[in-house]
Amino acid sequence: MRDKILRDILREYDELQINHKETLLNRENEIFAKIPLVKELRDNIISLLAEETKDIIGDPDKAETSISYLQNEISHLKKREEELLRENGYPEDYLTLKYNCELCKDTGFVGELVKERCKCLNQKILTRVYETSDILDLEKQNFDTFDQDIFPNIPIQGRDITQREYMQNLREVLIQYAERFPTNERKNIFFTGKTGLGKTFLLNCLAKAILDKGYTVLRITAYKLFDRLFFSSLKDKGESLQLFDHIFEVDVLIIDDLGTETRRNNFTQEDLFNIINDRMLSNKHTFLSTNLNLTDVQNRYSDRIASRLFDTSNTMLIRFIGQDLRTLKKGRHIS
Ligand SMILES: Nc1ncnc2c1ncn2[C@@H]1O[C@H](COP(=O)(O)OP(=O)(O)OP(=O)(O)O)[C@@H](O)[C@H]1O
Ligand SMILES: [Mg+2]
Repeated sequence: MRDKILRDILREYDELQINHKETLLNRENEIFAKIPLVKELRDNIISLLAEETKDIIGDPDKAETSISYLQNEISHLKKREEELLRENGYPEDYLTLKYNCELCKDTGFVGELVKERCKCLNQKILTRVYETSDILDLEKQNFDTFDQDIFPNIPIQGRDITQREYMQNLREVLIQYAERFPTNERKNIFFTGKTGLGKTFLLNCLAKAILDKGYTVLRITAYKLFDRLFFSSLKDKGESLQLFDHIFEVDVLIIDDLGTETRRNNFTQEDLFNIINDRMLSNKHTFLSTNLNLTDVQNRYSDRIASRLFDTSNTMLIRFIGQDLRTLKKGRHIS
């Protein structure tokens, strides 16, 4: 199953490269037809290369001077090409191959001698293997699509601030967090609050902003995470170890809906403790959300977990308050 996923992803990289090359070829044909001088410049480069290669073969001592002459000429011709493109209303990089990932040039691997998986490949594997929610969610739920108007603009009970103001402030704080990432002092974020207050939405905002910076993010619900850990440990040691590797290696682990997982004696407690503790020791970021209040968290999980999650020098503890957006959307507005 995992092999198939990897094969599929690598095939997609191949297709991507073919598409890029096709696009470039089409663009070249378009430009050669519209600006024949560009074609002439390209032909000049080819003749130059041929001449100089012949010279170098004839007299290898000339190699160094020939190569530096060639580099000069080519860069001069390239500049002229860019000028021509600009003069004709095209961007100057119109004929340059563009990659989705500049690091691995859409091959999935980096490194000259020893090849390693590129971050973009690791992210694709994580997304395919574990994510409950589609990565497309992030196109809909991000800091740019954050809609402040969905939050009631009336004071929250017992407070001077409205739910809208509260969430606007929170959005700003989290935007700054994402901007500072990964050098934030506090590596954990813990959202608590009742249902329908926008916790998952904001976790997605953070995920998108951090993914866009080129880091790996794994979003998973507590239910799915602990089920996979439990069943894979029963079934296959290899798969369980691989799952743990992913959980410990990913730059940001997001566990949504803590408390909805199936209770299995001490399994969940042990796993959760190991995940949080090991990630903290290796300075990695973990974000969690829950409907439970802090007392419930303390009762349900061990003190060792609670003391880590509630330690505000390591964790940004954020309480969501106000009215359930889902019931408000249905028109049952209670002020
Ligand atoms: N900032 C926002 N802009 C637009 N829509 C939002 C925003 N925040 C939340 N919503 C919408 O409100 C609804 C509830 O939000 P969300 O799912 O994030 O709540 P939650 O706190 O995670 O709830 P639960 O505890 O039940 O998981 C969703 O339909 C979501 O799309
Ligand atoms: Mg949620």
